[in-house]
Amino acid sequence: MKGFGSDNHSGIHPIMMNALLECNIDHEPSYGTDRYSEKTLKIFKELFGPQSETYFVYNGTAANILSLRACMRRYETVLSSDTSHIHLDECGAPEYFAGKVQTLPTVNGKIIFSEIEKYLIRKGDQHYSQPKVISLTQPTELGTCYSISEMQEIIAIAKKHNLYVHIDGARLSNAAYYLQSSFKKLTSDLGVDLISFGGTKNGFAFGEAVVILNPKLQIDFKFLRKQSAQLPSKTRFIANQFYHYLNDETYLKIAEHSVKMAKHLHDGLKLLSLKNDLIKITQPQESNAVFIQIPKNLVKPLREKFFFYVWDENTTECRLMTSWDTTENDVDEFLSLLLNLINAVRTSTL
Ligand SMILES: Cc1ncc(COP(=O)(O)O)c(C=O)c1O
Repeated sequence: MKGFGSDNHSGIHPIMMNALLECNIDHEPSYGTDRYSEKTLKIFKELFGPQSETYFVYNGTAANILSLRACMRRYETVLSSDTSHIHLDECGAPEYFAGKVQTLPTVNGKIIFSEIEKYLIRKGDQHYSQPKVISLTQPTELGTCYSISEMQEIIAIAKKHNLYVHIDGARLSNAAYYLQSSFKKLTSDLGVDLISFGGTKNGFAFGEAVVILNPKLQIDFKFLRKQSAQLPSKTRFIANQFYHYLNDETYLKIAEHSVKMAKHLHDGLKLLSLKNDLIKITQPQESNAVFIQIPKNLVKPLREKFFFYVWDENTTECRLMTSWDTTENDVDEFLSLLLNLINAVRTSTL
């Protein structure tokens, strides 16, 4: 069964599967000293800047908590959106390993800039956990993207108050495609300090990277990674997936496909919503996620054919997520099922 549950639900993209097979020969030195890691790290420097250093890890939660460990101490705070993955979906790991998470109010998943300084008033007060980092998810958990100028505004506030800037970029390639921007323009050039850069959600079997742009934060990172049990021994299998993902702009092609499929889904839903008021699009579609509100009694029959998550049980706001393997046909079948169900409701057979 294919559905719109998550880009985590899809399998391995053939390019990354071939990357795994390609490096599955002979013996290679371990712990990142293999030739696949070496050539991949060079590409990261080309894409993010020569001062950057990249470290492979197994998963996105580890990339986030390690990024935070690199730039804050246990008595310090990371500011993040109230919808952020580090706040809602990491089982308190950031608090356990790094420090306090303070949430900021949002609109459409994006932090409201004018609210940030309210959370900085007690900087210097020994009774208060000290704000040290701001973490932005790009694209956000609600599928929206911070524009370059929005990033500039937030980063200016962060710099004014000596806060590091972290990006949770589990799907950063989708933002790069949507904003038609290079990784460098989206991160290093704006003054971002470090990034959790995603692989898994973009067609990998597994594997993420922490890209550290600020040289001050690179010191000791390798020790933090090992101590956090995230130094992969057979690193070549993560590295070579990244090599092929970043080569020939494969990352952009995969992102383009997923985002275009989400747009196709969004446009179809928009059309349906204009013809009846049972469904409503709730967030702008700016990456590979579409958010809609649908009547509760439609969720079950829809999910029997196409799985997706109910994001908010109170409002039945649902998240539909596309992936590298979503086809136009998948989207069209979903839309026609939804139309049939809406008609059934209209004629009261449901
Ligand atoms: C924005 C974001 N960050 C981080 C993660 C964590 O990734 P993992 O599940 O690999 O730990 C996810 C996973 O869904 C995510 O969506």
